[in-house]
Amino acid sequence: MVSRVIPVDPFDLVIFGGTGDLAKRKVIPALFRRYCAGQMPEGARIIGAARSEHDAEEYREFAAESIREFSPGRGCEDGTLEGFLSRLDYVTIDAMGEDGWEELASKMTEDRVRAFYFSVGPGLFGALADKIHAHGMATPEARIVVEKPFGNDLATAKELNATLATHFDEGQIYRIDHYLGKETVQNLMAVRFGNMLFEPLWNSQYVDHIQITVAETVGVGGRGEYYDKSGAMRDMMQNHLMQLLCLIAMEPPARFEPDAVRDEKLKVIRALGDVLPHHLVRGQYDADADHPSYREAVDNPRSKTESYVALKTHINNWRWAGTPFYLRTGKRLKARSSVINVMFKDTPHSIFGEEAGRHANVLSIRLQPNEGITLQVTIKEPGPGGMRLIDVPLDMTFAEALGEEGGDPPDAYERLIMDVIRGNQTLFMRGDEVEAAWAWTDPIIAGWEARGDVPKPYDSGSTGPRDAELLLLRDKREWRGITP
Ligand code: BG6
Repeated sequence: MVSRVIPVDPFDLVIFGGTGDLAKRKVIPALFRRYCAGQMPEGARIIGAARSEHDAEEYREFAAESIREFSPGRGCEDGTLEGFLSRLDYVTIDAMGEDGWEELASKMTEDRVRAFYFSVGPGLFGALADKIHAHGMATPEARIVVEKPFGNDLATAKELNATLATHFDEGQIYRIDHYLGKETVQNLMAVRFGNMLFEPLWNSQYVDHIQITVAETVGVGGRGEYYDKSGAMRDMMQNHLMQLLCLIAMEPPARFEPDAVRDEKLKVIRALGDVLPHHLVRGQYDADADHPSYREAVDNPRSKTESYVALKTHINNWRWAGTPFYLRTGKRLKARSSVINVMFKDTPHSIFGEEAGRHANVLSIRLQPNEGITLQVTIKEPGPGGMRLIDVPLDMTFAEALGEEGGDPPDAYERLIMDVIRGNQTLFMRGDEVEAAWAWTDPIIAGWEARGDVPKPYDSGSTGPRDAELLLLRDKREWRGITP
């Protein structure tokens, strides 16, 4: 299968925090792969900007190393690296002072898309926005790209939105949630709205409940300082799992266009019910033979921050009233596995008698790894001797169905950065969406803080705390396994 590359016009992309971790691991390798794919037109330029003193040559060396480390051998011909590096430039800049700004402004090309990637802490967003404006770079073609964490609660998210709005319209602000750039997450919409099969059943009349699991095997690694102030609720639930929930639950937008899609997602977030204290489980991983415990990893022996969270919620609208949504995410779990399970109801009556057994249909959408879709269907157990029913998977692994291309989907950042250049905001969060997500999250966090809840310990390599199992068992349900 040949992938279609849609050309874009020449652009200037400035990466603030150009020598930082995100630029190194994600942004530069993603740009390189788009270059290899032939999507970076002649004249497109990438300008790293950071406080450290470098010249353009040193920055190219930094980029070359980042590509060698984080994008090894991704189908690029010999010589392409040099071609890509020749597009790179660097400016030493002081976000809070005047150094470097005139130089940066002089490097901008007139009348073309200019994207400013804020790959820096939110504390600098305001200063950067002011400087871009003060130096005449905030033209109508300017776009700014910001990463999570977008605030720490509703109040700080509102402040950030207000800060950015001083110099930029909502149509120029691209808030990244990299889950939206994942190929399979976009597939959620294709599956739901590109097939007649599912949509008529997609409601509380036919769906018993929905499970969303984002399980990771990694721990907090070297990010302890950030993570211990954040926890799984702020780091994953408020954004990535919320986005998955929206895509699974939203009404069909009239068109696949930015505001049509985001309006529908916003309605889902606003219809979310409160999460009762006994519908919430927080956990913290223990040490195992090879890894430190969460508290050791963040160097805070008394930490009450959760590395795992599971909860039950409802969407209070016509389509979903009565269908619970169970969401869980955690670190140091048994396997890396992100999957959405749509659990259908039992058939209303078994013509074969209860002794034949009954199996409800399950639609599993595997987001990563082993991306694909499985539909669990009931058939007759082979052989003579009566009618016994078993369930078997109708399985589609994208790698098999799509060949090479399905097995090696582009990284989320490739898609998202190119969407910024194209000016397509469909896969970016709108300001009101982020605020609504915090408005739902804040009281949950305030609740456990007021109660003084301490997260439950769980074994590294397990499926999480036992209480999370009970959350479903109490409802006579069970989590699907966490398997790679
Ligand atoms: C990030 C979180 O947003 O997403 C990390 O800050 C998490 O804690 C990561 O590990 C997971 O992303 P992915 O793409 O590896 O599933």
